[in-house]
Amino acid sequence: MNDQAKMLREQVIQSKYKPPSTFKKEARAIAVVSGKGGVGKSNFSLNFSLNLQKRGYKVLLFDMDIGMANIDILLGNTQRYNIIHLFESDISMEQIIQRGPEGISYIAGGSGLRDIFQFDEQKRSHFLTQLQALSYQYDYILLDMGAGITTESLQLVLSCNEVFLVTTCEPTAMTDAYSALKFIHNHDQSIPFQLIINRAINAKHAKNTAVRLQSVTQQFLKKGLSHLGSLPDDKYVSKAVMEQTPFTIKYPSCQASRAIKELTGSYLIERNSSVTKNTYTFMTKLRELFR
Ligand SMILES: Nc1ncnc2c1ncn2[C@@H]1O[C@H](COP(=O)(O)OP(=O)(O)O)[C@@H](O)[C@H]1O
Ligand SMILES: [Mg+2]
Repeated sequence: MNDQAKMLREQVIQSKYKPPSTFKKEARAIAVVSGKGGVGKSNFSLNFSLNLQKRGYKVLLFDMDIGMANIDILLGNTQRYNIIHLFESDISMEQIIQRGPEGISYIAGGSGLRDIFQFDEQKRSHFLTQLQALSYQYDYILLDMGAGITTESLQLVLSCNEVFLVTTCEPTAMTDAYSALKFIHNHDQSIPFQLIINRAINAKHAKNTAVRLQSVTQQFLKKGLSHLGSLPDDKYVSKAVMEQTPFTIKYPSCQASRAIKELTGSYLIERNSSVTKNTYTFMTKLRELFR
């Protein structure tokens, strides 16, 4: 390790438990995952972020579905910079962070997720310093992950404070969702999960899907799985995707928009009444990861 890298690293490590003078809390980090692709993670992540932001929380959405540039497309944008550029000291955070509707911030997906674990010490330190600063500026950081869990994405998921597991009611999506949950659970039994059922034909169908997943998880993993909420199958979602505008903005009173609004409300009620207030795990765990 060269001297400069060593110095930077020391700075990062030393700043471990030192919030800025305002004592602002670190953002709560949420990983949005699924087993199968195409179940609605990106649409959920974006519209959930918009709902949180609308309620006065500051949200930073990371497109971690590397190579797919989901969030960009849903917003009808193309970005020059992405998460990979957070490692480059000559590119400012302002250039990398994009502003979306409702004032949300987002960072576009980059090339290979594997790359970020292969950068040198100096780049990693710069990345962690950047993220540390960001984590004080936001209330929530959402990571819209790619389908399934890879060795690389697992590490990032495990750094988060909680995991949102998205599935549809199709047996294939459910089985894959269970596999993803099990894989994460096998590496960290303490990480809380919230289940989101998407594209449900009706409320009963959604409930049945949730109950089935909950009972398998309880039986085989002895893990509780809370069902955060469900979104109906709604043609206005794909219409909005075609129009490259988030469905909650384009069609605020469609069924899916109403459902995600309700879900966001339930989430916040639960969060604000929860005894486990913001912990400092996200940055602490990320530092461990890049050690
Ligand atoms: N609630 C829904 N109702 C109807 N169609 C949906 C819904 N959610 C997602 N879709 C459809 O599924 C497609 C894939 O969604 P997306 O969010 O990109 O999935 P993922 O990020 O999991 O790959 C969308 O383009 C849309 O057409
Ligand atoms: Mg996606």
